[in-house]
Amino acid sequence: MELNGLKVAVVGATGAVGNLMVKVLEERAFPVSRLTLLASARSIGKTLGFHGSEIAVEELVEDSFEGIQLALFSAGGGISKKFAPIAARAGAVVIDNSNAWRMDPKVPLVVPEVNPDAALSHSGIIANPNCSTIQMVVALKPIYDAVGIRRIVVTTFQAVSGTGKRAIEELRAQVLDVMQGREAVRQIYPHQIAFNCFPHIGPFLENGFSEEEMKMVNETRKVFEDAKIRICATTVRIPVIYGHSESINIETEKPVSPEEVRRLLDAAPGVRVIDDLSNAGYPVPLSAAGTDDTLVGRIRIDPSVENGLAMWVVADNIRKGAATNAVQIAELLLSRGRL
Ligand SMILES: NC(=O)c1ccc[n+]([C@@H]2O[C@H](COP(=O)([O-])OP(=O)(O)OC[C@H]3O[C@@H](n4cnc5c(N)ncnc54)[C@H](OP(=O)(O)O)[C@@H]3O)[C@@H](O)[C@H]2O)c1
Repeated sequence: MELNGLKVAVVGATGAVGNLMVKVLEERAFPVSRLTLLASARSIGKTLGFHGSEIAVEELVEDSFEGIQLALFSAGGGISKKFAPIAARAGAVVIDNSNAWRMDPKVPLVVPEVNPDAALSHSGIIANPNCSTIQMVVALKPIYDAVGIRRIVVTTFQAVSGTGKRAIEELRAQVLDVMQGREAVRQIYPHQIAFNCFPHIGPFLENGFSEEEMKMVNETRKVFEDAKIRICATTVRIPVIYGHSESINIETEKPVSPEEVRRLLDAAPGVRVIDDLSNAGYPVPLSAAGTDDTLVGRIRIDPSVENGLAMWVVADNIRKGAATNAVQIAELLLSRGRL
């Protein structure tokens, strides 16, 4: 373990995202002098490995942040609402993965490839966008900068890991139940998820959209600093464990060819173009799982509108969609002397 590093806390360390945050800190050799792992009282007695040591999980309490310089939160919105200000007051910079602070005008909402400078204006808390928003803005930003984007229509195909570790267990158990002729038991989702899909992620709102759909609209506008961009989202849960896929149609301000878009995306940080139709070359969740890139393929003209383009975008929702993005924000702050 690096001795001259920061005192870092991971809140929700035993969860799908928190667990991976610990792994990503290690993989990227983020300078950590002491790692504090926090979760609920249920996790007392558990340990997690970090750079060859086993670190005991502690219960999250108000005093947990004494001396902590960086706190990575992923324990749900309620925990972040209560404990992020406590951590910030104790002197930590908080990078929060939940929905609690994303739309607060005083809290920057940051994707390092897209709006890195926004992170510098923080006053203790920085928010990570929703996983489906992150991969969309990473793929669209180079096009937005080159030719402008007026309108986005997106349909997502989202993995169960986006709901957390219990949802992964539910899919695995239901697949076994169905294959062995038993009735599938439902606990997390409104419908059986094994061998099924449903357009229902988060609660439905009065306007008929789901909360997840409106997150994509509002967070994209905030990250692009463009309140006028028109966006319509449909978010769908599918029986995949890791990797969200998105079918995206855009209307650009100026015309742009698929070849030019491939060139722009090839040069963009964090994006990998996989677009070779003759060899079934396009991104799929299994090729994105475990990687940090946002994969883009099926880039083609959408002939149904003027300046229309269609594409297919896939990323690992708990890596680039959560843990990696959070650690990249911390790296960005470090590199700019703000941590
Ligand atoms: N999964 C994703 O793709 C994704 C993407 C972006 C953002 N997020 C956000 O990240 C957060 C966590 O998601 P997840 O998927 O990792 O969920 P998860 O697998 O269910 O993990 C939840 C974590 O929160 C901890 N926790 C729950 N109640 C707590 C309490 N009262 N005090 C302290 N810790 C508590 C849990 O600890 P115990 O193990 O002790 O219960 C666990 O470590 C959510 O806000 C989610 O919206 C998730």
